[in-house]
Amino acid sequence: MALKEIKGGGEVIVPPLTWVSDISAVLRAGLKPVFVDIKPTTLALDTSKVLEAITPQTRAVFLTHVLGYNGLTDVLLTELKERQIPLIEDVCESHGAVHKTKKLGSYGWASNFSFYYAHHMTTIEGGIVSTDDEELYDMIRMMRSHGMVRESLNPKTKRKYMEDNPDLNPDFIFAFPSHNMRSTELNAILGLQQLTRLDENNLARTRNLELFLSVLDASVFQTDFEVMGSSNYAFTLVLKNPDFVMRDKVERTLISEGIEFRRGLSGGGNQLRQPYLINLSGLPRPESLKVVDHIHHFSWYIGNYPDLDQAKILHLGQILSTI
Ligand SMILES: Cc1ncc(COP(=O)(O)O)c(C=O)c1O
Repeated sequence: MALKEIKGGGEVIVPPLTWVSDISAVLRAGLKPVFVDIKPTTLALDTSKVLEAITPQTRAVFLTHVLGYNGLTDVLLTELKERQIPLIEDVCESHGAVHKTKKLGSYGWASNFSFYYAHHMTTIEGGIVSTDDEELYDMIRMMRSHGMVRESLNPKTKRKYMEDNPDLNPDFIFAFPSHNMRSTELNAILGLQQLTRLDENNLARTRNLELFLSVLDASVFQTDFEVMGSSNYAFTLVLKNPDFVMRDKVERTLISEGIEFRRGLSGGGNQLRQPYLINLSGLPRPESLKVVDHIHHFSWYIGNYPDLDQAKILHLGQILSTI
């Protein structure tokens, strides 16, 4: 919503592998989502495909860091800066991950973090947007609270709305048709406690992921993820070859061993296959985005929690090697 207010209408380049909310936010703001494929080793938007998709109508690139992997590249950052196209980073699944020396979420114009209870840290429900742009910060403070001007921290903004609307009570001036997305003190108490353990927990998760990838059979499963700087709360299991028989075997085995999994990685796989997009014209056919469509059919994630016993990871590797 804030992007549309500040930059105007147009297109937003979005990933086909993400949570529905990224795409629905673009649609609800009246912007047009432009889907491009992902890179297999990071699972995030493929830089070269993003650059090809940029038009004079591009208002932002919305990049999701999928399941802990760093999706940024220096080329993407440089090109977007040069072209003055804002980057929005979705870091909901990658708290604590880094690109070079800085944390993900500190590169973009704006970034969002979810504190849903399945993620690295939780407030049960909730999340944050972070930005270093004062105009955006002030606007989203209002937008998270029914669009109310009294939430603005900018005296000039407040004065302008008051002067322009002398018939309104200054406590109840609504600048934007927004919703209530406020967090609460109780959520904050939980989140602050969780923050103290986040770095330590993430180190344990990183060790777990390295062990998990090392025990996989690299001729059957993908193991060449770009793990530098990653912070994963889930193991990513991807079949190398498109093989539905093998897929069903993997699922039957995991179920019989009582190992919980989700197929399709973030958001259930290829968003272009979802009914909420079916009636939207001008979108690519789901199968034309080959990398994400492979992920859609032939991948799973399995929980990676800090006190997961290494013996269990070895056991998981053993189970997968017998399939
Ligand atoms: C990449 C991504 N973005 C956004 C969200 C939405 O977060 P929330 O459930 O806190 O609204 C999720 C949720 O899992 C997600 O994985």
